Amino acid sequence: MSAKTAKLVIGSKEIELPIHSPTVGPDVIDIGQLYAKGDVFTYDPGFTSTAACDSTITFIDGEKGVLLHRGYPIEQLSSKSHFLEVCYLLLYGGLPNAVELDDFETRVTRHTMLHEQMLNFFRGFRRDAHPMAVMTGVVGAMSAFYHDSIDVNDPWQREVASIRLIAKMPTIAAMAFKYNTGQPFVYPRNDLDYASNFLRMCFAVPAEDYQVNPILSRAMDRIFTLHADHEQNASTSTVRLASSSGANPFACIAAGIACLWGPAHGGANQACLEMLEEIGTVDKIPEFIARAKDKNDPFRLMGFGHRVYKNFDPRAIVLKESADEVLELLGVESNSILQVAKKLEETALADDYFIEKKLFPNVDFYSGIILEAMGFPTSMFTPIFAVSRTIGWVSQWKEMVTDPKMKIGRPRQLYVGETKRDYVNIEDR
Ligand code: CMC
Repeated sequence: MSAKTAKLVIGSKEIELPIHSPTVGPDVIDIGQLYAKGDVFTYDPGFTSTAACDSTITFIDGEKGVLLHRGYPIEQLSSKSHFLEVCYLLLYGGLPNAVELDDFETRVTRHTMLHEQMLNFFRGFRRDAHPMAVMTGVVGAMSAFYHDSIDVNDPWQREVASIRLIAKMPTIAAMAFKYNTGQPFVYPRNDLDYASNFLRMCFAVPAEDYQVNPILSRAMDRIFTLHADHEQNASTSTVRLASSSGANPFACIAAGIACLWGPAHGGANQACLEMLEEIGTVDKIPEFIARAKDKNDPFRLMGFGHRVYKNFDPRAIVLKESADEVLELLGVESNSILQVAKKLEETALADDYFIEKKLFPNVDFYSGIILEAMGFPTSMFTPIFAVSRTIGWVSQWKEMVTDPKMKIGRPRQLYVGETKRDYVNIEDR
């Protein structure tokens, strides 16, 4: 029994539960023996008070707006580091020295191309398929193309699968985009950095040369960095749950992509831009704010609020800077959608409803604005989130499969259905 314990009284029964203390953050009450000792389950729909695993990767303090990766604040990483270095940090636990970073970057860039036969796989989809649908399918299909890296019990195979996923995800997302627009696939260029290569694969065409603007490439790298990991969010928990059965890494990451697609999670940046388009002009903002406040209207301001951050989203503060830089560079002040975004942010932040409920623009609000200004269609917003979050999924997956406490995930339920009843033959119903 650990030093600190909690006592739970159920009727006449008293159960002592161990308390574990983290390095930082709230203590956790260990309820692992609760069912065995007390014949009760805990009930926590949405897992708002449940810690599902031990982790050393990311720490969030939602009240204070703190986000740390392996202890390093996101503000420092997004200003001093770059995405591939953050990938190394998340995957291996510490910052690399120059030789380690060079080796890691070389390994990643060597894996950016896809198996040529995978291009046929893309061609099996309808042209108008959503890129997230294509990505879910293609990433899942990686287990059919890379047989030598699906054994989760082999450390070498786990390492190769991790590098392949980080390296190939931008290529897959860019190809899903190209396929959707009817343009030819653009192969990766390993002399470019991760973000520039991605922009080139998305926007270059064989008919003309494409020069990557360093301001856009920096903003892209920041979007990747800021979305890299976010502890046990819905898609990461999905990856962990899928992998708890021993499923191969590509199948697990495909499950994460599917979960990320939802509008309450990674789909929020697309939903946010669609909302801005629906609002259309600045004069319509009060009408939409009123709808968001109306209890009888399911409408919510997309890109506002967060399950964990209750005062501000530290990622949004950094990204707001990038949004201003990109908008200035591209001179899109005349773009009506972006004008609506700026005015909506100002209006909501001054509104009592949003102040009282601590609802503020989240990272998806600004990432959507930047991506729109860069020329990405809204359907590419969530695929870009998936490219960024791949390192988080891979790091959490790797941590989980090497955790000796790992068990298959199997939640229980509060059953509120019918009690036992006898089958009635169809002629008697
Ligand atoms: N617009 C209007 N009202 C809102 C909003 C919003 N965007 N978000 C929350 N509320 C209200 C909600 O109606 C509730 O009111 P009441 O207490 O009167 O019932 C209160 O605020 C608390 O909301 P909740 O749904 O209990 O909070 P939650 O922690 O379960 O939800 C959320 C968090 C992100 C799902 C939610 O804020 C939301 O739906 N936001 C819009 C979608 C969005 O932008 N999602 C991206 C999240 S960031 C990216 C990521 O990490 O995946």
